[in-house]
Amino acid sequence: MADIDYISKIPNNVDLTSNRRLQRALEDWQPKFLAWWQDMGPEGFQARDVYLRTATSVDAQGWAKFGYVKMPDYRWGIFLAEPEPDRRITFGDYKGQPAWQDVPGEHRGTLRRLIVTQGDTEPASVEQQRHLGRTCPSLYDLRNIFQVNVEEGRHLWAMVYLLQAHFGRDGREEAEQLLQRRSGDSDKPRILGAFNEQTPDWLSYFMFCFFTDRDGKYQLASLAESGFDPLARTCRFMLTEEAHHMFIGETGIQRVVQRTCELMREHRTEDVRRHGGIDLATIQKYLNFHFSVSLDLFGSEVSTNAANFYTAGLKGRFEETKKDDDHQLKGATYPVLAPAGDRIVSRDEPALPALNERLRDDYVVDCDRGVQRWNQVIKKHGIDVELALPHRGFHRAIGAFAGLHVSPDGRILDAAQWEAKRNDWLPSAEDQAFVGSLMTPVVEPGKFASWIAPPARGINGQPVDFEYVRLG
Ligand SMILES: [Fe+2]
Ligand SMILES: [Fe+2]
Repeated sequence: MADIDYISKIPNNVDLTSNRRLQRALEDWQPKFLAWWQDMGPEGFQARDVYLRTATSVDAQGWAKFGYVKMPDYRWGIFLAEPEPDRRITFGDYKGQPAWQDVPGEHRGTLRRLIVTQGDTEPASVEQQRHLGRTCPSLYDLRNIFQVNVEEGRHLWAMVYLLQAHFGRDGREEAEQLLQRRSGDSDKPRILGAFNEQTPDWLSYFMFCFFTDRDGKYQLASLAESGFDPLARTCRFMLTEEAHHMFIGETGIQRVVQRTCELMREHRTEDVRRHGGIDLATIQKYLNFHFSVSLDLFGSEVSTNAANFYTAGLKGRFEETKKDDDHQLKGATYPVLAPAGDRIVSRDEPALPALNERLRDDYVVDCDRGVQRWNQVIKKHGIDVELALPHRGFHRAIGAFAGLHVSPDGRILDAAQWEAKRNDWLPSAEDQAFVGSLMTPVVEPGKFASWIAPPARGINGQPVDFEYVRLG
């Protein structure tokens, strides 16, 4: 295992000190990153001690250490998973050839775009969430959001490292621009739609972690298969941190659902709003929204870009090496859902351009597993309601369903029919105002807001009532 170089300013396991030019480029970028963090990072808590985990190695057993840190002092570092000896490209036209340690010239522009698009999502989510600390439902949740925020910051570092190490002047310019775009800013927006949406409340935040961050997991998993070895190793290590982000989303919603069920039983009513809870119907609407905008992140169902990324060996499938086929897919087909008149039908498309849809399918299965676990909580309370993912054509802005009016149960409607039901399917202004009204901060250790149950256990073996953020 490579040791972490804590002597230089930037913790890393890439032997930064042996590459003076790169080290200088990163040391030049570091204060700009910190200025961005002060400007756009979590508002109001920069001087507080937060119980955070920091990546200190890539060792599967002990890769992180926990302790109190002020966020601006977090050691954002550069970690690549350990190299695989004699790693080969496992898919596409270059299958079987040695993985690239340097950027292949003919794919330079494409690779840069893939890295920049991934990198742009990392600071974007920090920007989207920057005001949420002020309305935290508990110190436990406050600590968790800050953990996600600093790690998304580290993921930006990871992508910037690749840009500066492998893309020369272009890479340095992209690294600057990653700090200049702003989520939701119409003049200089973030690249992808869902990363310009607001995250105005904690229900949206948990949905974001569950649905939108999970898109990130699937993109990273595909890039972890890349024939460009530094990208593959970078993404593999990022996935280690990402597991915790998935956990926060899934258990966050689960705790909201649990609290709702407790209130339903206690007061014998579905209308738990009067009792400070979030009714299941509202939870379903938030789910509908976040699932649909996250599906868009996978891109069009049929995409020549997706085919090219794969054929060129740049971006594989989810768990590429476990798929039982030739890993080139030239003559293969893949079923894709598409509108045909007033119906939605499955068509066999050439497999290569359908790779976005295949990744989306893997994602949908994963999302559904989480929803079913939430349903177990509802069922345990003896309540006869089920949450469900809406049809993938519902409320889409990208791909074959964009511009259509598909109901959550998968019927194609006309615009008027759909609009008449909009407030039943998506959070209305009133729903959002209600959820917003619940967002009052709870900062006493061990106490939780009225609308969310405590977690089953604390972080890193600490008790639930541990002082996860020191506010005193
Ligand atoms: Fe990330
Ligand atoms: Fe994440």
